[in-house]
Amino acid sequence: MPTTATNITWHQGAVTRPEREALVGQKGVTVWLTGLSASGKSTIASALEQHLLQHGVSSYRLDGDNVRFGLNSDLGFSERDRNENIRRIAEVSKLFADASLVSITSFISPYRGDREKARKLHQLNNIPFIEVFVDAPLEVVEARDPKGLYKKARAGEIKNFTGISAPYEAPETPELHLETQNLSVNECVQAVTDYLTKQQYIS
Ligand code: PPS
Repeated sequence: MPTTATNITWHQGAVTRPEREALVGQKGVTVWLTGLSASGKSTIASALEQHLLQHGVSSYRLDGDNVRFGLNSDLGFSERDRNENIRRIAEVSKLFADASLVSITSFISPYRGDREKARKLHQLNNIPFIEVFVDAPLEVVEARDPKGLYKKARAGEIKNFTGISAPYEAPETPELHLETQNLSVNECVQAVTDYLTKQQYIS
């Protein structure tokens, strides 16, 4: 990504990631949850964070709604703003993973291209990127509607609502595909931790 600033030079630090990982005793990785509103992203992310804590693994969770109160409070839900939302989150998640944490992101991240850019950014920095499709059909999430947003979107009170009046581009080859209408929260967490263990990102 080209920078706007000129006359800047990358400063290489004296401490390497492997040295940080050795000190902390764990590897950095991004677990990227994507899915419709009310598909279960935040619930799984929170339960995963708790499970990892109980098993001695440090993680940090970045959540769509929460981040929009602070870092991304200047962004709305136009395609352009969502692009920028995901670009920033990819950068922040990369930083947390670079600091040897399991970084868990839960954003709708509806555009395939944005998720691909997030993946490429991690690949360029040699940081694992695990895309997790938190999948539930529209009729299921609409029936759940915990925040009443689908109802408002159907009534035309919310514009550009994902799944109703804005697109969601489902992942084609995610590392994990969780169908939350058939799996409990614990089963979803187990699937993620099994994957992380199998890949030797956590032990
Ligand atoms: S995105 O698409 O990745 O930039 O969205 P994200 O940052 O994850 O924010 C999604 C949460 O914002 C609320 N919300 C909306 N979602 C979708 N479309 C529109 N127009 C919208 N307006 C508000 C909603 O609470 C989403 O939270 P989740 O947890 O996904 O339900």
